[in-house]
Amino acid sequence: MEHGSATATASPNIAFVKYWGKRDEELILPYNSSVSMTLDDSLNTVTSVLFSKELNADRFFINGEEQDLSDNDIAERFKVVGIMRRKAGSADHVLVVSRNSFPTASGLASSASGTAALVYACSRALGLKLSAKELSIIARQGSGSSCRSILGGIVVWKKGRNADGSDSYAKRIAKKEQWPDLIDIIAIVSTERKRVLSRSGMKQTVESSSLFKARAKFAERNSRDFAKAVKSKDFDSMASIIMKESNDMHAVMLDTYPPIIYLNDVSKEIIAAIHGLNESSGKALAAYTFDAGPNAHIITLKGNEEAVRNALSRVDGIRETITAGIGSGPRALSEKDSLIDMERLMPKS
Ligand code: PMV
Repeated sequence: MEHGSATATASPNIAFVKYWGKRDEELILPYNSSVSMTLDDSLNTVTSVLFSKELNADRFFINGEEQDLSDNDIAERFKVVGIMRRKAGSADHVLVVSRNSFPTASGLASSASGTAALVYACSRALGLKLSAKELSIIARQGSGSSCRSILGGIVVWKKGRNADGSDSYAKRIAKKEQWPDLIDIIAIVSTERKRVLSRSGMKQTVESSSLFKARAKFAERNSRDFAKAVKSKDFDSMASIIMKESNDMHAVMLDTYPPIIYLNDVSKEIIAAIHGLNESSGKALAAYTFDAGPNAHIITLKGNEEAVRNALSRVDGIRETITAGIGSGPRALSEKDSLIDMERLMPKS
């Protein structure tokens, strides 16, 4: 191939049943299955790629800044490019230009949307015709949670059993249209970068937490029960699984030695406020969940948004909220949306 370029967009996902701990570090295979909702365009990454003989090195820009491809975290994410290049039999260098449209300094992770958009754009630029399963398997090797952002709606990442990871990929369990009212109210309590990155944090947990061994079974059951609750439209059960899952993951983080603590006092106030709201309503109106940071994701239905906002308004320390709906997964954008200046072979200024 002489020249291949494409642009794609993808969004992050929020996990309802959490992934924390790899049984294979290289292939990124998890100890347990996990479930998430892919968010809509309110938060997204746009990525353009160009494979060309005219390039003499691989280059990767995020939000205008060139990334160091020898940095471990960047190299891990960039691994997907090598996998796809080998599949396509291409030896061309690549220029990758990516932009996150996340609200500035939101403190939200972009590795899932970034890797999903990168995989989607590369497959098109290289002319590879890959199924969602194949795309998900490739994305997983760049960032575990990104394999769930390859699909829209509510998605399960089956842990799989095979040593080569061929059965560890994401599958949709409900389309966006089946849960059109599901929303994520993100309460930003801190904009600091996380102190412990998920990659090293997970490794420390697997090595040192004795509670973690019990978690794998518990999370596997939660994945199955959550899928049943999604099918039977049982928001009450979904909400309790979401909250227990978040609590359980943060418990094994605390049980890690030295402990990993992502939640702060404001996060804990939010937990109390949501339990208070649900108790006074006599049913679950909302569920909280936290990833590797103190920002809260409040999962609720559109009709409950006002009640949730009321409850949150009584918590001191929330800087802002962002509401995202349920999304439909990555999609290709047209050439006019490309972030690459094809004359200069550089990011557009
Ligand atoms: O972004 P990753 O693949 O390194 O892992 C993130 C894991 C959590 O966000 C904490 C939980 C999850 O399942 O998304």
